[in-house]
Formats: sequence, C-alpha cells, structure tokens
Amino acid sequence: MRKIVVFTGAGMSAESGIKTFRDSDGLWENHPVEEVATPQAWVRNPKLVLDFYNARRKQMHEVEPNKGHYALVDLEKYFDVEIVTQNVDNLHERAGSSRVLHLHGELSKVRSTRNPNLIYTTENWEIKLGDLAEDGAQLRPHIVWFGEQVPQFETAIKITQTADIMIVVGTSLVVYPAASLIEYVPFNAPVMLIDPKAEPQSRRKIEIIRGTAAEKLPELVKKLISNENT
Ligand code: OAD
Repeated sequence: MRKIVVFTGAGMSAESGIKTFRDSDGLWENHPVEEVATPQAWVRNPKLVLDFYNARRKQMHEVEPNKGHYALVDLEKYFDVEIVTQNVDNLHERAGSSRVLHLHGELSKVRSTRNPNLIYTTENWEIKLGDLAEDGAQLRPHIVWFGEQVPQFETAIKITQTADIMIVVGTSLVVYPAASLIEYVPFNAPVMLIDPKAEPQSRRKIEIIRGTAAEKLPELVKKLISNENT
C-alpha cells in the first residue's frame, strides 16, 4: 500500500463548528495568545487559561466530525494513512482514523504542571484550580503553548519522510516548526493543499485546491482511490 501523510490544521474542523485561530473572528482575535496560550499566561492567571481551554473542551464534546474527517477514514481502505494534526480536538479519532499524531497536544488530556510525563485522559470538560495530579501538582491542559517545545515534531518528521503523497488541509502554515513539515516530504512525492485561502511560502511544488475540507477532501479522496484502482 502506498503511504499518504495528511497534515491538518484548524480549517479541518471549521465545518464542525470549531473556530480557526487567524481567520476574522478567529479564536486569537477574541482571546489574545499571550493571555491564554503561553507559560507566562499560566503563571499570571491560571484560571483564565483553564477557563479558555475548558470552553474549548466543552465545545469539542458538543460538535461532530465533518465529511472531511470521514473521507480520511475511507482513505485507509486503500492507502497506508497517517495523520499529523496541529488540532487539539479529537475529531479525527472520533471519525475513526486509526493513526493520528497531535503536534500541539490534546484537549482530552491533562497533565501535571510538575511532571510532564504524568498525563491523564479526561472525559470531563472542566479542570479547576485545585484539581491535582498524583504528585500533588496542579493539573494543566496537555497543550503545547507558544514558547514551549513541540515534543512530537521529530516523530512527525519521520512520518512525513515516508510519504508517497502528502495532503495538507486547512492550515495557514505560519506557525513553526509545524509549518516546516512540508519541507520533509520526499522530493518526488506530490503535495496537495486544500484551503480556501492559505498562501504557502515554500519552495516545494504544491498543488493548491481552493475550497473547504468538507467539500474538497471527499472529492480528492474519491479521485485518489479511483486512480489507485486503475
Ligand atoms: P489558522 O487559524 O492559522 O489557519 C486556519 C486555516 O484554515 C486558514 O488557512 C483558513 O483559510 C483555513 N480554513 C478556514 N476554513 C476552512 C475550511 N472550512 N476548510 C479548510 N480550510 C479552512 O490555524 P492553524 O494553521 O491550524 O497552535 O494554526 C496553527 C497553530 O496556530 C494551531 O495549532 C494553534 C495556533 O496558534 C497552538 O495553539 C499551539
């Protein structure tokens, strides 16, 4: 089976009802990054940070995967598919995708502020001040904040280097190191980007498919499957 690596961003979940970050009325417009998504914000006002991620987690439980997420599940019948996502929601998993690497963490996990290896899966949408890990330290969202290391990046590079085809969906490609992932795609592997308006700054040849994830991904998946079967 040929290998398809799919690299997704916030646009992947937009049609499920989750706001992107940088589109107009996006999350960062109403919640400045430095107030909710940095280690400094956590020190300054942990309640504000918890509230921000509690709202994201609550919403995640209320929304459903869209046609784009489901199309990627269909792709697994014909290709070896690995998804690398910048998204912190669990919509790929809930749609049924079997291999998903979260570069920027996961809303459904929390961890100790003292020991980054004490990670817990939570069904609960709310984390409060005073909710503690086994080591007695406050729990924090299992999210990669700005200024923090991206521990899964090396693994993401290794996955990307094995791609026969790379599909990029719904990302502005402005946040590094994540955005540099496309530079690791083998030279002869085609790269396609589905996005209504992203303008990738890469020397790679990228086929840009203008449109949304729920509309264009099912079309692309159908085409790839039909080409593979002929
Ligand atoms: P952005 O908000 O930067 O970009 C969203 C992209 O999705 C834009 O290029 C939009 O054009 C596109 N888009 C909007 N609606 C779409 C749809 N229905 N279908 C397809 N594409 C659509 O989000 P990301 O690129 O994911 O990090 O942002 C990267 C990282 O920056 C995030 O993981 C997050 C953020 O700060 C952290 O929080 C650490």
